[in-house]
Amino acid sequence: MAGNDYGWYPGHMTKSVRAIREELKLVDLCIEVLDSRIPLSSRNPDIDELAKGKFRMVVLNKADLSDERKTALWTAYFREKGIESLVLNAKEKKASDQVKKLAMTVCAEKIERDRKRGIVGRPVRAMVCGIPNVGKSTLINSITGKAPTKTGNKPGVTRSNQWVKTGAGIELLDTPGLLWPKFEDRSVGLKLAAVGSINDQILNTILLASETILLLRDIYPDATVPKYEITLNEKPEDVLKAVAERNGLILKGADPDIRRAAETLLAELRSGKLGRMTLEEP
Ligand code: G4P
Repeated sequence: MAGNDYGWYPGHMTKSVRAIREELKLVDLCIEVLDSRIPLSSRNPDIDELAKGKFRMVVLNKADLSDERKTALWTAYFREKGIESLVLNAKEKKASDQVKKLAMTVCAEKIERDRKRGIVGRPVRAMVCGIPNVGKSTLINSITGKAPTKTGNKPGVTRSNQWVKTGAGIELLDTPGLLWPKFEDRSVGLKLAAVGSINDQILNTILLASETILLLRDIYPDATVPKYEITLNEKPEDVLKAVAERNGLILKGADPDIRRAAETLLAELRSGKLGRMTLEEP
């Protein structure tokens, strides 16, 4: 499975590096959004270089779908790197206040520096960054109360870059900084696909579902899928067969419809219907 085999990558990469470099010059704070189910695979490590000298915070988003215990390990991991993180569900109403609160804490040093120079009330300027599908737009929407301007996932789309006051001493750029995933490692592509970050239509769904089952088995040995009364230690074909049978996905001639079973299993995994899960540990 070639994880980088989709539209915006790598054609628009150079454009987005340039754009993000320019935009970061304008901000005090970089808010890096990650998918808490795959904090490493949904992270572009180049951000460390790009955001050098900026105040930083990480949002471990989609926390409603990830494994709390593992998320705590990731919080500790980022703290060790000197970056505070926030465990978040960007769809919740309180998300905006949570982000603003940590942003002000992270930037306290700047606010204090300004104060000593007699500058009071100068807003912290912040920008949301991350790879596609981690929830950047949802977060910007939650903070500013309006949908962000469509970004440059495609060339030629005008970026508006407006500052939006958030009512908490923070001004947010209305356009997220688009990063791209790092595909050097094949498992990164698999994990991005497993959580639904990569357009399914170009992937072999049965292969993806089977590899996802094997991946889950490594992370959660002996885990069962109660809904299907099956353990992940079974062969992936057998897991998919059980899913087909349970859901009445049967082909003409009474064979289980494995393709639709694979689609069903992936959809259920991604939406948290089979429980919360995190696919990697620090
Ligand atoms: P992006 O700007 O980084 O590309 O991501 P975007 O906000 O578009 O979010 C991608 C998908 O993730 C959206 O789902 C969004 O609703 C969902 N999402 C964002 N944050 C969270 C979260 O904290 N928890 C959960 N469970 N989902 C989240 P979608 O299916 O594309 O759209 P929709 O059906 O929700 O409208």
